[in-house]
Amino acid sequence: MKKIGNRGECSDQAPVRYWDYLDDYRRNREEILALVDEVFASGRLILGSRVAAFEEHFAAFCGSRFGVGVNSGTDAIFLALKALDIGPGAEVITVANTAVPTVAAIRATGAMPVFVDVEADTFLMDVTRVEETVTSRTRCVLPVHLYGQPVDMEPLLDVARRRGVEVVEDCAQAAGAVYRGGRVGSFGAVGAFSFYPTKVLGGFGDGGMAVTKREDLHHRLRRLRFYGMDGGYYSEEEGYNSRLDELQAALLDFRLPALDEEITRRKNIAAIYTGGLEGVGDIALPLVQSDRNHQYYLYTIRTGRRDELKNYLEGCGIETRINYPTPIHHMRGYRFLGYRQGSLPVTERLAEEILSLPMYPDLLAEEAGRVVEAIRSFFRNQPLSGKKDHG
Ligand SMILES: Cc1ncc(COP(=O)(O)O)c(C=O)c1O
Repeated sequence: MKKIGNRGECSDQAPVRYWDYLDDYRRNREEILALVDEVFASGRLILGSRVAAFEEHFAAFCGSRFGVGVNSGTDAIFLALKALDIGPGAEVITVANTAVPTVAAIRATGAMPVFVDVEADTFLMDVTRVEETVTSRTRCVLPVHLYGQPVDMEPLLDVARRRGVEVVEDCAQAAGAVYRGGRVGSFGAVGAFSFYPTKVLGGFGDGGMAVTKREDLHHRLRRLRFYGMDGGYYSEEEGYNSRLDELQAALLDFRLPALDEEITRRKNIAAIYTGGLEGVGDIALPLVQSDRNHQYYLYTIRTGRRDELKNYLEGCGIETRINYPTPIHHMRGYRFLGYRQGSLPVTERLAEEILSLPMYPDLLAEEAGRVVEAIRSFFRNQPLSGKKDHG
């Protein structure tokens, strides 16, 4: 039997990284180091003019009014919910097909996450399931713009308005993505962003931001990130320490103007994948709805032979990831939520089939082409076992 993942089947070229920032760093090294020096020499390291400038620029970029820099995307969600007075006794409707922090942030407030299933072709919240999930305890819907494609916001906002619940957008993976002419983060009461290094706008450490158009929420968010204080060593309410520092803010502000161009580069890579993988084996490509602009934080395919393919690509020196291998309701840490096997069938099935291909702005067209070629050769050499239906 032919060994799958045997490097000999592939060419002996350099490995294809799943994600890397080092080319970007090398290109911009002098400017980055000059900025570091400037911040260190400024005498102000926390909540100074650079944080204020980046908050203003990023909120404007999102088409929102105010930005509040915090120390992570998780905290941006947590503080957004706290600013809306969501806590014990409340339910927040979201998805289990997301990164753990979406749910961890809800639980940190004491509220309970309630999951709706996702669409099989976009991987996003099935917004047609939201209304039937609303109860008298529902206070908020938390859609996740997963992999960089916006959720169908209009019907979701409509349900939320009719049922009197808030909307907080988890935009951690989707900075810059557009839905019907508006950027993500500009639709809900608050948009929560992560600047974790791998994100489309990534810093050189942790960081996040909550954006809002509402003055009252802006004020609450600023207070909550700073021990509940408006200033002067006096807490108006119980608060937290969640600040974006001057250094990360300066570096992120430096990177922001290039974001749209970097998204274009991501789209060019996605076009190589889509062009080369259409109709190959049993692969289902990510569906992009025509009213939205996917910015390809991740390019995630589906195949019934996911694990074999992943091993094969690894043998070819091509890194891939599974985002995410276990739906949250199946994780030990969240079994107490009481969801049984089969309760979110699409989410559960996706976890078995999804595979994210290498994606970052500096990935070369030639490298993306090698990924396509390796996948095509996998399906040429390992004919289908009859599993074709992706439901
Ligand atoms: C969908 C989603 N939500 C929230 C987060 C949390 O962001 P952070 O890692 O900055 O806390 C992440 C990133 O890890 C994410 O991918």
